[in-house]
Amino acid sequence: MQQLTVNLDDRSYPIHIGSGLLGQVELLAPHIAGRQVCIVTDDTVAPLYLQRLCQTLADYAVVPVVLPTGEAFKNWSTLQQIFDALLAARHDRRTTLIALGGGVIGDMTGFAAACYQRGVDFIQIPTTLLSQVDSSVGGKTGINHPAGKNMIGAFYQPKAVLIDTDSLRTLPAREVSAGLAEIIKYGLIRDRQFLDWLEQHMPALRELEPALITEAIARSCAIKAEVVAADEREGGVRAILNLGHTFGHAIEAHQGYGNWLHGEAVGAGMAMALELSQRLGWLSEAEQQRGVTLIAAAGLPVTPPRGMLGEDFKRLMAVDKKVLDGQLRLVLLKQMGEAVVTADFDGQALHSMLAVAGR
Ligand code: NAD
Ligand code: GLY
Repeated sequence: MQQLTVNLDDRSYPIHIGSGLLGQVELLAPHIAGRQVCIVTDDTVAPLYLQRLCQTLADYAVVPVVLPTGEAFKNWSTLQQIFDALLAARHDRRTTLIALGGGVIGDMTGFAAACYQRGVDFIQIPTTLLSQVDSSVGGKTGINHPAGKNMIGAFYQPKAVLIDTDSLRTLPAREVSAGLAEIIKYGLIRDRQFLDWLEQHMPALRELEPALITEAIARSCAIKAEVVAADEREGGVRAILNLGHTFGHAIEAHQGYGNWLHGEAVGAGMAMALELSQRLGWLSEAEQQRGVTLIAAAGLPVTPPRGMLGEDFKRLMAVDKKVLDGQLRLVLLKQMGEAVVTADFDGQALHSMLAVAGR
């Protein structure tokens, strides 16, 4: 087992990564203050892993909440089901919420924990590759609004993150590719050597070769932990973790939440960010192509959806959380392995790129 730490003073927490962790109560117990535990999961993950976790927590009073699966349910009315269950079981302020599932469950459970009785503890047990390398770490929680992705939420850190790599065995290949999008993101924004390594091992990573996928998860979590520790509430550098996300969130909203997976939209969005960085003269054509080839090798789309036009992007990107005082800021690449967040780019280059989008 590997252990990393997200260093945030008195809110620091461990990330445990390894095989068989779901059965290890000793990793959970130090982070559960009372006897009450509420496990939040979805109706895809519940038949796979809920019973096992309940067995691990046999000494606690456990209330399971099984939500409908998918991004389309990351909303107010589904969130309400968590509060209904907590109140029905009379959970008090010492309750601990446990998110067992992908990023949708993690984001919603974290937000529920931030709100319930003005804040209770929560633990992340991410079961998708995407949630293991990204959403479970860093404390961004929330739900979608029909007008924009993740528009309602809170920064609220978990007490611990438990990554059981065995849970990836049941993950569909499309979801593996979605997770690889965020892994590639770390290489592009921060770590050229990691990018080389990913190019070398992509076929084996898609097959979830145990040692390699564990290494990829650990390296991704280490980069995320470092960035979050430097800028927890995204006043500055943390925004680089959104490479491809401004385009990607627009794609998700345009296609209807859940039709393009988040990771797929991020894949196409990163390809757009690579293209814009090249059009601005910051990357060579060869570097752009290298990035796009790696994204495609992960099984991800590298072009926006057909029929999503430049004006659709502009309308949807105008509500991005990185817009400040009405000015669009984008994460772009100064070079491979180095990202910047900037409003200072030639708008004509963006306009020209979007003019041919979706055709
Ligand atoms: P998801 O939670 O919808 O899970 C994807 C699918 O996999 C679902 O159908 C789920 O039921 C299923 N699943 C989960 N674990 C499984 C397993 N072990 N075996 C088989 N099936 C399994 O999606 P996701 O890709 O995990 O997360 C995407 C969400 O995460 C988006 O809402 C995105 O906005 C959010 N996100 C948040 C952050 C953050 O920092 N908070 C970062 C990145 C993404
Ligand atoms: N996934 C972006 C972030 O956590 O900041």
